Amino acid sequence: MPQETPAVVDVSLTHPGIAYSRNVFGHFIEHFHRQIYGGLFAPGSPLSDGRGFREDVIEAMRELRPPVVRWPGGCFVSSYHWLDGVGPARRPHYDKAWRVTDPNTFGTHEFVAWCEAIGAEPYICTNAGTGTAEEMSDWVEYCNLPQGNGHWSDLRAANGHPEPLAVPYWSIGNENYGDWEMGAKTAEEWAILVRESAKMMLRVDESAVLLTAARADLDWTLPLLREAGRYLDMVSIHGYWDKLHDVNEPSPYLTAISRSLDPQDEIQHTIDIIGAASLAGKVSIAFDEWNLRGWHHPLGTSEAAISARELNEDNSTYTMADALFSASFFNSCLRRGDVVKMANIAPSINTRGPLFVHPDGIVKRSTFHVMAMYAGLLGERVLDSHGTSPELDGASVPVVDSLATLDASKSRITLALVNRDPAASVACDVRLSGHSVDGSYPATVLDGPDADAYNDVDRLDTITPRTTKVEFRSGRCVLPPHSLTMCHIDLPLHHSEGDVDAGRMLNGDWHLSTAGWHKTS
Ligand code: AHR
Repeated sequence: MPQETPAVVDVSLTHPGIAYSRNVFGHFIEHFHRQIYGGLFAPGSPLSDGRGFREDVIEAMRELRPPVVRWPGGCFVSSYHWLDGVGPARRPHYDKAWRVTDPNTFGTHEFVAWCEAIGAEPYICTNAGTGTAEEMSDWVEYCNLPQGNGHWSDLRAANGHPEPLAVPYWSIGNENYGDWEMGAKTAEEWAILVRESAKMMLRVDESAVLLTAARADLDWTLPLLREAGRYLDMVSIHGYWDKLHDVNEPSPYLTAISRSLDPQDEIQHTIDIIGAASLAGKVSIAFDEWNLRGWHHPLGTSEAAISARELNEDNSTYTMADALFSASFFNSCLRRGDVVKMANIAPSINTRGPLFVHPDGIVKRSTFHVMAMYAGLLGERVLDSHGTSPELDGASVPVVDSLATLDASKSRITLALVNRDPAASVACDVRLSGHSVDGSYPATVLDGPDADAYNDVDRLDTITPRTTKVEFRSGRCVLPPHSLTMCHIDLPLHHSEGDVDAGRMLNGDWHLSTAGWHKTS
């Protein structure tokens, strides 16, 4: 049975919208389980090139048009010393974060080379746990100073790379607010360490784009911004909404999808804190770790605890819930593209990532296709749009989520329309500056056979985008159950005579504005 109440989307064409950063479609890889070793980096595999990079992984990653990749952690980085991972003699080290021995055969140069292979810019997160401001800024010297500027740039040359590695993005620390992190700090300690580290890093490379570990929490982030905000370009926040690190019991569809609006709330809270520090317009947000599903890594050094990490690789976990949550996450970031300048799926490969890698091939999980659609099909500017939607029974979120973009030539609108209902189609009335849309338009739809469908080694294309047409009649189209639809409407619009009844704008439990979705009082 279709949803009874239609959703309404009203897109304004009176303003060309806001340009957003493609870094919102960013990536993250950590030295954790098989993300790197046995994932993207598999020397000796028949599927790898001479550098040890899996070529099928590179090909798949390039489909996602990745703008930026964050590395090497995550918790791993807070006791990582970068010098162990450069030069001919790599010293294995015991990784105190994840309690395994890291061979260090994948280090700075391998990371920068892999980023170049997939067409992304490198983003290095530094060790502010056991590391020092000097060690962090030495890493910037090693990567970015021209040869002949002292010990570290000369060492890079001696290691076979006379030209700078040109790493543009640098983060000071990772989640140092958490007692789970090596070298956790108090808010006061953190503010001063970030200030001093930022000063030193910028004295090495004043063009470096600086980020640091923050959170949507006033007590942590306000002192940080007051002390170090003048040196920072972005504050980093993280989000995992289905908490699975201790017990691996992934939430079912409706429970998972009910978290779809949480990211917009954390974005708004962080915007408010930046404003409280009088840094609005100066400091932006990087959601540089995000995923519906938290990683499973029960504590304890026992072999059982470490082998339990294999449970992250159960491909049946990643259904249309993960896909549609991810679509809503992107919509939340893009609606606030004026402040959210980067977001990095955590991670990109294996664990909970969009790409599963096994010794004989790869599996594009449901979230891979959402990332490919967002990174590949949207226009460059987000248009102002308002809307209403009925509420999804059992989930307390709107049935429909929507985003409208305009391409750089201002001749094509692309609508991203999400139907979160796991079983029912929903009508959606679309108006462009008050005119109803009519006609048949090219579209790409991702839905799968049912809400709990997933891709796996033996079913690679159970969920795969399909090219189709969307029919609008007097402004109304119908969105399939559990689906993401992206449709392209070329301008000028040949609109119908009758316009959607504006009164319908008032129906619906939920209202959409630039700030996101809010419940009708
Ligand atoms: O579960 C993975 C961890 O999540 C990352 O290493 C860390 O940054 C975050 O707490």
